[in-house]
Formats: sequence, C-alpha cells, structure tokens
Amino acid sequence: MSGFSVTWLDLREGADFAARDKTLAARALQWMSAYADAIPLIVDLGSGTGSTLRALTALGAEDCAKNLVWRLVDHDPALLNEALRRHGKTHVIEDYEADLLAIDSLPLTGARLVSASALFDLVSRNVVDKLAARLAQQGTALYAALNYDGCTQWNPPHPLDSDVLEAFNKDQRRDKGLGMALGTDSGSYLKAAFEKQGYEVQMADSPWTLGTENRAMVEALIDGIASAVATGYGLNPEALHHWKQFRLQNAATGTCIVGHNDILALPLS
Ligand SMILES: C[S@@+](CC[C@H](N)C(=O)[O-])C[C@H]1O[C@@H](n2cnc3c(N)ncnc32)[C@H](O)[C@@H]1O
Repeated sequence: MSGFSVTWLDLREGADFAARDKTLAARALQWMSAYADAIPLIVDLGSGTGSTLRALTALGAEDCAKNLVWRLVDHDPALLNEALRRHGKTHVIEDYEADLLAIDSLPLTGARLVSASALFDLVSRNVVDKLAARLAQQGTALYAALNYDGCTQWNPPHPLDSDVLEAFNKDQRRDKGLGMALGTDSGSYLKAAFEKQGYEVQMADSPWTLGTENRAMVEALIDGIASAVATGYGLNPEALHHWKQFRLQNAATGTCIVGHNDILALPLS
C-alpha cells in the first residue's frame, strides 16, 4: 500500500492541473503528435488514479495522437482499479501493477513518452539515473510534472513557519520505498540526469496557488505537514500544536503558495 488515498489525490488534482506549466505540457503533446507509428504509447509512472491522463486529455492528447494507448504503472492496485473504473470505457488503458524500484523490468518498451506527476520527489537518485539511461536507449521522452521544490509561503505568516518548513523539507528526503528520496532536489536532479544522457531538458515552475476555494485541500495539507514533522525534527510539540491550530483557523481565508516544477526531457535527434 502506498499511503496515497484517493481522497487526497482528488483533493489536490484541481490545484495540480492549474499549476502545470501549459507550455511544457503542449510541447510534450507536440512530441506525441510527431509520432508516425500506428499505436502511440504513453507510460505514466506512479499513475495513481490517472491524474496525468486526465490533465493531458483535457489539453488535447487525443487530438495530438490518434489511437493513443495509456499504460498506467503503479504499485497500488486500489489506485489502478480506480483509474480503470474512471477511464476504462473512454481510453485505451493497459494497467501494470509494478514497483518502480525494478526499473529494468518496467513495461517501458515502445513508449514515445514516459510521464509522471507528483512522483519524482519520492524517488532516489539511483532510480532517476537508471530510468534516464533506459529511456535514452530507446529514444523515449520524459514529462515529469509537479516536482515539489521546497518553497512554501503562507499568508498570514506565523513565527514557526520557517522551522516547520525546514523540518518538512528534511522529511521529504526520507526513504519512501524507492531509496533515499530526492525531495526538494528532484527537478534539478532530473534535469542534470537527462542532460547527461544527451536530452534537451526544459524546466518550468508550477506552483500551487491555494486560496479560499482550496480550503479542504489546505486543511489536509496542514494535517499532513504537522504529522510529518511531529517527531524526529526537534520541534516543540506545544509550539507545533499552536502552529497547526493557527494554520487551520486561517485555512478558509489565507493563502498558501507551494513551489513545484515541471520537466520535459526530449531526446536530441
Ligand atoms: C503523490 S502520488 C501521485 C499520483 C498521481 N501521479 C497524481 O498526480 O495524482 C504518488 C504515486 O506513486 C505511487 N508510488 C509510490 N511509490 C511507488 C513504487 N515504489 N512503485 C510504484 N508506484 C509507486 C503511489 O502509489 C502513488 O500513486
């Protein structure tokens, strides 16, 4: 079990879609449309319930690539089943239950594009290096959206914000099952790793801008951050409790910007 609930993934999806850099997404689709083969294939890693499929469909994926096949890869069967339930009748989907640690045996063969969203901050250097080498061998592009970059700005501010953020960013590096996580460095590491393999890499900011309409998501985010930093980072429990209460009290009227970046790596022909 991955620990990513359908509820949390649904809560964040609107903010994720708004945050995605649309220029990079359009370039990823252009790359798909230049493909001459009869069966264009996108492999979405850590697909969850299909957020990338929905985002790229909304941005015109089906127009860019006729007969598009989506291969969704995740280790959580419940999330894959939910993706199939939502899209099995409208899209051609191949679902694969697999652990991303086993890069060599992932079903990437034939993919024109490998996509992912909100995944690479969970992943280790080693996984990125192996993935970049494998994609380079087969001339596959990578579109990796929504890599957390470590910047969070709350309004109104609270005196504990920077301590909480520092602790949270440390927690982001914890091993989440894929080796020591890249956390806030995932975007820059992806860029360097794919450039090393000869790719042309573009990177763009894709911050969440959360306000009143995201109240439920912000409340879940506050809860998640407070739990993540509760032990092991030296924060005073009472101070953290007050921070959490303050943040929840302001969730309906305050704002929160959470930095992410998107990466598009295209093989140089
Ligand atoms: C933050 S969620 C993002 C899900 C989806 N891409 C989205 O944007 O809604 C991370 C996803 O990676 C998957 N995942 C985490 N570790 C994995 C692993 N070792 N192997 C395969 N999938 C994994 C989780 O099950 C989850 O679906």
